[in-house]
Amino acid sequence: MPGHLISFEGPEGGGKSTQARLLAEALRAGGAEVLETREPGGTPTGEIIRNLLQNDLSGEPLCDETEALLFCASRAQLCRNVLAPALARGQWVVLDRFTDSTIAYQGYGRGFPPDTLRALNAFATGPVRPSLTFLLDLPVEEGLRRALVRSGSRDRIESAPLDFHRRLRDGYLEMAAREPERFAVLDASADASAVAALVRETVAARLGFRFS
Ligand SMILES: Nc1ncnc2c1ncn2[C@@H]1O[C@H](COP(=O)(O)OP(=O)(O)OP(=O)(O)O)[C@@H](O)[C@H]1O
Ligand SMILES: [Mg+2]
Repeated sequence: MPGHLISFEGPEGGGKSTQARLLAEALRAGGAEVLETREPGGTPTGEIIRNLLQNDLSGEPLCDETEALLFCASRAQLCRNVLAPALARGQWVVLDRFTDSTIAYQGYGRGFPPDTLRALNAFATGPVRPSLTFLLDLPVEEGLRRALVRSGSRDRIESAPLDFHRRLRDGYLEMAAREPERFAVLDASADASAVAALVRETVAARLGFRFS
């Protein structure tokens, strides 16, 4: 596929949404056509699934298997209807969370076998793959504090115990170590403009984009 997909991953409150927005702006300023979206969500069906996952919309506790499948359902809808066509047109796609979130949250977090999750991811994505993935890494206490300051309350996943969040952070670092050519690990405890500068440097170095 001629376009590039860049995903932002990491524990809660690391600045994924902030950095995805800043990178999309910088790519646009450099003349790129950019599609900026998020997971779960990014399609009408996906946004309903997002609401279901974050806000206990049905009033019924979601079992862990259902949670995993709902994330993948949102992803399938996004890949088929939005990402694959955008990449085929040569667009840049900036994604706030993607397949690695499933391995981190449902694998390292909830304890499902990573191979099962990788198979689900492959089923959901088809040929869509990130060219580059930023892991915005920071201590989980700091990330949860930022997320709490932002929203004033914690959503269903943010409220999980601290050791759940620690397992995910460690899981992400392990995944990044296993695929160093795709991942770039950044220290997300630095201020947002410093992180954004590192993001742009990495995109320039690895994908050859010239920022204006
Ligand atoms: N580098 C930074 N330093 C300090 N605060 C930051 C930084 N980056 C983002 N923030 C602030 O921290 C909060 C969380 O940032 P953001 O929403 O971008 O994180 P996120 O990784 O998308 O979080 P979530 O996992 O909850 O989606 C926001 O209020 C944001 O303004
Ligand atoms: Mg976010």
